[in-house]
Amino acid sequence: MKVFVTGHQGYIGTHLVELLKRGGHEVTGCDIGLFRGAEWEALPVADRELTKDVRRVAQEDLEGHDCVMHLAAISNDPMGDLDPEVTYGINRDASIRLAKLARDAGVERFLFSGSCSVYGKGEKPDLSEGDPLNPLTAYATSKIDTEREVSKLADASFSPAFLRNATAYGHSPMLRIDLVVNNLLASALAYGEIRIMSDGSPWRPLIHCRDIARAFVAFMEAPREVIHDRAVNIGGNAENYQVRDVADLVQELIPEASITYTGEVGTDPRDYRVNFDLLSDLLPDFRLEYTLARGMQELHQAMTEHRFGRKDFEGDQFIRLRWLQNHPDRLAG
Ligand SMILES: NC(=O)c1ccc[n+]([C@@H]2O[C@H](COP(=O)([O-])OP(=O)(O)OC[C@H]3O[C@@H](n4cnc5c(N)ncnc54)[C@H](O)[C@@H]3O)[C@@H](O)[C@H]2O)c1
Repeated sequence: MKVFVTGHQGYIGTHLVELLKRGGHEVTGCDIGLFRGAEWEALPVADRELTKDVRRVAQEDLEGHDCVMHLAAISNDPMGDLDPEVTYGINRDASIRLAKLARDAGVERFLFSGSCSVYGKGEKPDLSEGDPLNPLTAYATSKIDTEREVSKLADASFSPAFLRNATAYGHSPMLRIDLVVNNLLASALAYGEIRIMSDGSPWRPLIHCRDIARAFVAFMEAPREVIHDRAVNIGGNAENYQVRDVADLVQELIPEASITYTGEVGTDPRDYRVNFDLLSDLLPDFRLEYTLARGMQELHQAMTEHRFGRKDFEGDQFIRLRWLQNHPDRLAG
């Protein structure tokens, strides 16, 4: 199939390009290169590389493709709060525009990279797709608004689907350490200390970034009626963890590291457990390849090989927000 992937140079997108190419698909990658220069390892190259802001994509860029996988975004809550106007402009307005252009270009499938953070601070322990949404940030609101508006475009020849991804972790050629698991592992390696901002009790649904990429491929290959206009949580029921469980796993890998609970709760007190039954009902053959323990082991090994240390932790290469603050020109619309 011919696939148009936005944000293909990001943490998840790089896995996706590699998986799609390995599966024999033809990939157009569209990315503005916000993090160009922050690569950890060599990035896979798409068949066609389009260096373009998603806010500027034209219908003719999309023509001839079978599927759009839309990952380009301001990709976390703190970054989204830096400038909510830019967040809404890219994450919501450009996404809705892109979906309309895709539909008008005759693209049949539009897969949106949403997030479980739409549930915010969960009112009940086991959140399903039909439960009330409780966005706490501009980032989460931008994802909900996009789902609602793009869903209205669904018709007999255009099938959007919304992948509400759990929080990602794990190895990627475009590594990030501003995600809870990677951050705790990185701080243990850099300082010998696993520093937890809360009391360790908040729950998070976690998923390896490569498993998110695999879910995109599964959604592209599924029969249309299975995924048509669906919002689906992407993760696994057994992969909901309390932050303190993550810390314990880090300590198993790095026994000399101590655990510190600072207890300071930030402005984003996310705490939620998510139910992933719908994913296994719709796509019974899809299974996560990684458990948290296995994914952490793999990342720990890679970080050790790269001699990950204090300089890496304190620099901007692996922290999206810090990188953008140091490269403000990259986001100029
Ligand atoms: N990482 C997670 O835990 C997670 C969880 C749930 C959902 N998501 C979603 O998955 C997607 C990918 O996340 P990621 O972790 O790979 O993020 P990332 O920040 O590593 O990658 C995002 C990519 O999008 C590109 N991009 C950003 N704005 C752009 C624009 N205006 N035009 C063109 N390209 C642009 C960036 O250059 C970057 O390469 C995002 O939509 C994110 O919200 C991520």
